Amino acid sequence: MVDLSVNLSGLTLDNPVIPASGTFGFGYEFAELYDINILGSFSFKGTTRDPRFGNPTPRIAECESGMINSVGLQNPGVEKVIAEELPKLKKCFHKPVIANVSGFSLDEYVTCCEKLDKEEQVGMLEVNISCPNVHGGGMSFGVCPDSAFEVTKAVKAVTKKPVYIKLSPNVTDITEIAVACEEAGADGLSLINTLLGMRIDLKTKKPVVANKMGGFSGKAIFPVALRMVYQVYEKVNIPIIGMGGVSSAEDVIEMMLAGATAVQVGAANLVNPYACRDIIESLPVTMEKYNINSLQEIIGGAHNG
Ligand code: FUM
Repeated sequence: MVDLSVNLSGLTLDNPVIPASGTFGFGYEFAELYDINILGSFSFKGTTRDPRFGNPTPRIAECESGMINSVGLQNPGVEKVIAEELPKLKKCFHKPVIANVSGFSLDEYVTCCEKLDKEEQVGMLEVNISCPNVHGGGMSFGVCPDSAFEVTKAVKAVTKKPVYIKLSPNVTDITEIAVACEEAGADGLSLINTLLGMRIDLKTKKPVVANKMGGFSGKAIFPVALRMVYQVYEKVNIPIIGMGGVSSAEDVIEMMLAGATAVQVGAANLVNPYACRDIIESLPVTMEKYNINSLQEIIGGAHNG
């Protein structure tokens, strides 16, 4: 019997597979398709202090082996998430969830984290300082070590649960940002968010996405994400949740060998809503194929020797 369990800042997950924020709603939508309790955990849609309608449409552009999104952090706001979304989720998911938080100011991050930290079902907070689709917030906090430090420190001061900071790949050196977050007290890191990209429609000669640019995700970005997880693992001593183009059990294992303790699956859920279930089901046989008995034991294995 192979062992799929991993430990993320004191939380034991049955397996390392976690649907990524923004690709799995608030969970209960997917519970109509399969029993989502098979998941390691999941990260719910980026939540802000106030409700957000999101960006104008079109928000999606298809690409070879991936997609561009510019959703713009559409969500009902933290009060409604707590009053309406979490109770619905609680009925169908009986494990700790990851609360993904976004903001446009330090104060907004603090307010949202403080409120979500008090929710019983929230096992950890994932602070998104890397959304490329909004102006004056999101990624602007994640492209400079000083502001990443400041957000991490402020959020840590009002929370008791583990805080993971979600990093942007749209920087010169992601390891500098990672180290700043660790120094400010982050319990872990999530990486990578999407890569800023665009498409132009040859018929209209205009950008496909109304916001012109958006976040590129999907299979095509897997090697970039893997490389960044590998580099960050060498520089920090806190756990990493690896993500970016993961779509198979083999990808999960590769991410863990690079240094990830757990792995998020994003765009693949939008192609196949059963993607996470399929990956979890094929992990044991894939582990046996590569003579792996325990996933926890392979974390960072590509760095040895
Ligand atoms: O636009 C969005 O809602 C995406 C958020 C993100 O990539 O962090």
